[in-house]
Amino acid sequence: MYRHTKELQYNVKPERPDALFAAKLQELVGGQFGEMTVMMQYLWQGWNCRIPGKYKDMILDIGTEEIGHVEMLVTMMARLLEGAPSETQAEAAAANPALAAVLGGQNVQHAIVTGGAAMPTNSQGVPWNGGYIVASGNLLADFRSNVAAEAQSRLQTARVYQMTDDPGVKDTLQFNLARDTFHQQQWLLGIEQLIEDGFTDGIEDSLAAEEKDEPGRTFYSFHEGSTAAEGRWAQGTTLIGDKEIQFSPGVALGDDVQEVPAPDPLLFATYDGSKGPGKPGNAAGAYGQGAENLLSKAKEKLTPGE
Ligand SMILES: [Fe+2]
Ligand SMILES: [Fe+2]
Repeated sequence: MYRHTKELQYNVKPERPDALFAAKLQELVGGQFGEMTVMMQYLWQGWNCRIPGKYKDMILDIGTEEIGHVEMLVTMMARLLEGAPSETQAEAAAANPALAAVLGGQNVQHAIVTGGAAMPTNSQGVPWNGGYIVASGNLLADFRSNVAAEAQSRLQTARVYQMTDDPGVKDTLQFNLARDTFHQQQWLLGIEQLIEDGFTDGIEDSLAAEEKDEPGRTFYSFHEGSTAAEGRWAQGTTLIGDKEIQFSPGVALGDDVQEVPAPDPLLFATYDGSKGPGKPGNAAGAYGQGAENLLSKAKEKLTPGE
């Protein structure tokens, strides 16, 4: 259950409206690395977290804080868009073609669609979508994704910060920059805590016993004269398992050759007949294939060793 209080987490008091800056600020609201993304990412991770206690509470604390960040930016947007497009701007533009061009930088949807308010879109009008978030159920994978999200989010905030000289806007963004700095560390410390609590060794290596050994400790180079061998990633020991890292030219490790079967004649792929006639498929083909595979698997289970 969520409750709402009227107070913003931090002030958002632009000194004056600025419709053009509002168009840029959309990126920090509904862009891939905007506040909506971290908000939804952490909330979904938290709601689906299977460990009651400090992990779930921490994730939901930060997710809930991010709701407040969306609220702050949306509020700021409405204040930046106050009076835009205004009569005075329209008149000024009519009198001055250069100014008209500058004013043309306003996000027209702010005027037409939202009536002077923010939208859940990026700065180019692309709607925010759930495909931006990672909520895997695996806290190591999630926390790594969260570090990356906070880093890109902070970078974009820093860039947008330089696009305004409004002290009120700068004041808010200084707060947001600081939170992004702390949140990056929060998630990195979360990974340290996962390691300390024995949930992971710091690298996602589920099914480790099943994986092949050499590819798990080798840097493959795929161009001649590569200087990549100079880096730590190509020498020393692996971060987990204490194995020797090796640098190796990218050569074929198996005997497989890149070839694909003859095409289904009903799909009209360009084909010279060199691999014989293709198998004609139909809409039911894929279903039949799946069912056949399932049947043979079941048979294997029933008659092991055959
Ligand atoms: Fe945030
Ligand atoms: Fe954050």
